[in-house]
Amino acid sequence: MKTKTEKRDNLGELIKTFNRVTRPFVEIVHGVRKGTIPYFECGAWALMVSAGVALGVDEWLLKKAHLSFLYPYNHPIIYWSLQAFLLVSGFFFWGIREAVKLNRLLSTLTSIFVEAGLKTNMGRVPSFVADRPIDSGVREMVLSMNGVPLSAFKQAREKLETDVFGFIEEMKDERRKGLIKIKYSEKDIPKIINLESPYGYRHYDFIVGNTRTGEKRSNLETTPHLLIAGTSNSGKSTYLKQFISTLYLNNRSCEFTLIDLKNGLESIQFHNLPRVKVVTRPQDAVEKLARLQKKIAERAKFLLANGCHKIEEFFALPKDKKKWTEQVKSDKDIGRHVVIVDEAAELFLVGAELNAEGASKARRIVAQLAAQGRAVGVHIIVSTQRPDVKVIDGTIKTNLQGRLCFQMPDNASSMTILDSVRAADLPDIKGRAIWRDGTAMTEVQVPLLSDEKIEELLSPMREKQKDTPKEEVKSEELSEDNEEVGV
Ligand SMILES: Nc1ncnc2c1ncn2[C@@H]1O[C@H](COP(=O)(O)OP(=O)(O)O)[C@@H](O)[C@H]1O
Ligand SMILES: [Mg+2]
Repeated sequence: MKTKTEKRDNLGELIKTFNRVTRPFVEIVHGVRKGTIPYFECGAWALMVSAGVALGVDEWLLKKAHLSFLYPYNHPIIYWSLQAFLLVSGFFFWGIREAVKLNRLLSTLTSIFVEAGLKTNMGRVPSFVADRPIDSGVREMVLSMNGVPLSAFKQAREKLETDVFGFIEEMKDERRKGLIKIKYSEKDIPKIINLESPYGYRHYDFIVGNTRTGEKRSNLETTPHLLIAGTSNSGKSTYLKQFISTLYLNNRSCEFTLIDLKNGLESIQFHNLPRVKVVTRPQDAVEKLARLQKKIAERAKFLLANGCHKIEEFFALPKDKKKWTEQVKSDKDIGRHVVIVDEAAELFLVGAELNAEGASKARRIVAQLAAQGRAVGVHIIVSTQRPDVKVIDGTIKTNLQGRLCFQMPDNASSMTILDSVRAADLPDIKGRAIWRDGTAMTEVQVPLLSDEKIEELLSPMREKQKDTPKEEVKSEELSEDNEEVGV
């Protein structure tokens, strides 16, 4: 008689064997669903096999091995089934390869967990539940934690990366179910990416950064407003300069207002550029924002007169259907307008240069721009190193849908920006960030556009100006602003 334990062990073995045999097919199904199967390679394989069969290579090979009797000369059904199998065998081999990789990993998993100290006092270790691709570069493994806390996994991160996962992108626990989900990848993200040319990003596309699988772009139409956060020196201003340059050079009717406060962009490179207004003092910024608020109202009226609720509808109107006004004489006068605030705390909090009334007015207007700007093509990008509610209140945050979060000092501040602790777990690399748009999150390395490169690209566009002292430039910019033509 077999004991209960023996029976259970046998059943366990049976399930394991079943999983092993079916794993290649499971991999193929996941691969097709997630689009991670290398279709090109499998197609090339099918072509090669067909050519081989047409040339009689299969028959010749069997003959060489003295196995000619295996060749199904007189069995058309077997013959054609074999050919059909050979044609799709690329997928099959790929499935087997993925399954072998995973099985190899699983067979060492338990001992690695023990070595990494991932076990409870009772000697229990995490156990495997599932593993599937997320996209072509990242997989997710689900483990049952079996009482091992998330903090233990985090401590063992380096060992787990070396021995099992390659590069861990995220570890998240589902405490109720006792599961941990580990996103990992064989590929690392380069530590530095130099942007050779910011050209080629048309129609208000902008670069987010490089993920594990390649460059990620977004667009002002789909992601109209951004919130950029990160500790000091993490790469916020550098990203903004690249962002501005790329949008500026690719969109000839795009206008910019750069609110560049203390320790911010050092926007000197953007001074005296057509279509760009730079403000460097909080009080001037509040005035400028108030004018933008008017601009939104005027644009909305203009669009409505054209029977449009959104600027995209107006862009799509046939030329002869567009009704122009004194202020808006052509498409050039109604390009998108991007407002950038670097170091928002300087504008939203009371300081030496800004009283309570000014700060609250600034917050109110920015919240309004974020809520109403999208429809009329006014976009707001807010950057801050302080993520607390005093700087970024709820209304502003809700409307800044695109979030680029560089390294954060602690879990709480990462949570404020991303509703996730991922930015606190980022490696210490300048320009490394988490991009969140809606609910999807990815780790990116944002590209670096050097100051020299920006200078080289922008200097031919700069308006010739007499050498004016800095203070005068500011007042001149503002008065010139009053004569703005477009809305
Ligand atoms: N994407 C990047 N790739 C490589 N180095 C970067 C990147 N962004 C920033 N850096 C480096 O980090 C320094 C600080 O960046 P900065 O943009 O001023 O940070 P922050 O505005 O967050 O304080 C820069 O001088 C630059 O040398
Ligand atoms: Mg900065």
